[in-house]
Amino acid sequence: MRVPIVAGNWKMHMTSGEAEQLARGILDSLDGTVRVEVVVCPAFTVLERVRKVLGDSPLKLGAQNLHWAEEGAFTGEVSAGMLLTCGCEFVILGHSERRTWFGESDTTVNQRLRAALGAGLKPIVCVGETIEERQSGATEPVVRRQVTAAFKGVPAPDAAGCVVAYEPVWAIGTGLTATPSQADAVHTSIRRVMRELYNDNVARAVRLQYGGSVKPENAADLFNRPDIDGGLIGGASLEPDAFAAIVKAAV
Ligand code: PGA
Repeated sequence: MRVPIVAGNWKMHMTSGEAEQLARGILDSLDGTVRVEVVVCPAFTVLERVRKVLGDSPLKLGAQNLHWAEEGAFTGEVSAGMLLTCGCEFVILGHSERRTWFGESDTTVNQRLRAALGAGLKPIVCVGETIEERQSGATEPVVRRQVTAAFKGVPAPDAAGCVVAYEPVWAIGTGLTATPSQADAVHTSIRRVMRELYNDNVARAVRLQYGGSVKPENAADLFNRPDIDGGLIGGASLEPDAFAAIVKAAV
């Protein structure tokens, strides 16, 4: 049985005080009833402050990226070890905004994934097609290429513990959502790729999130699909009540 997982990607939002308020708001809105895994992923600058607010609640902390080196002359980058000391358990990798704006490639996603696993962080690996790729019928090959490249050299037990977020680029922050059947079809194909790369156990164990304009109104229909194990939430994760409603939809 896969435990559903809902993660909030706060992106480049929330100064220190705002982040603390948001974290408190989420704890209040969830009201202790968390029967799925819930992760919040704030900016690097507020990780420690949010960690303190989360305290011994079941909510977990994640970061939005990391660099693959342990340390060194990499101005502006943050290592896995640094994230661990801030209390992170999860890390988002290969988000389409990083691929689009910051030169992230299949190769660097793989390097980051292996570094995260090596350090004991749980990766949330993002994949997804652009609108042009969907319209030309290339969704499945694109997602297959991204998943295959990301997991190159990753051993089966590590892969089984990963989360893969399917986030169609055209649905991120646009208000457009993949229909539950469109999303589920891609999730099924990701599971098929994991079965080919590894085995049935890994394919069954890996958790697959959907991301892209998930809201309280559409969350339950998406999460009810057999191959959708929760969501990666952007905009709606910045509103405590909306995020809590999405979490409850995953229960
Ligand atoms: P969105 O973002 O929910 O605002 O569409 C999702 C994401 O980028 O992870």
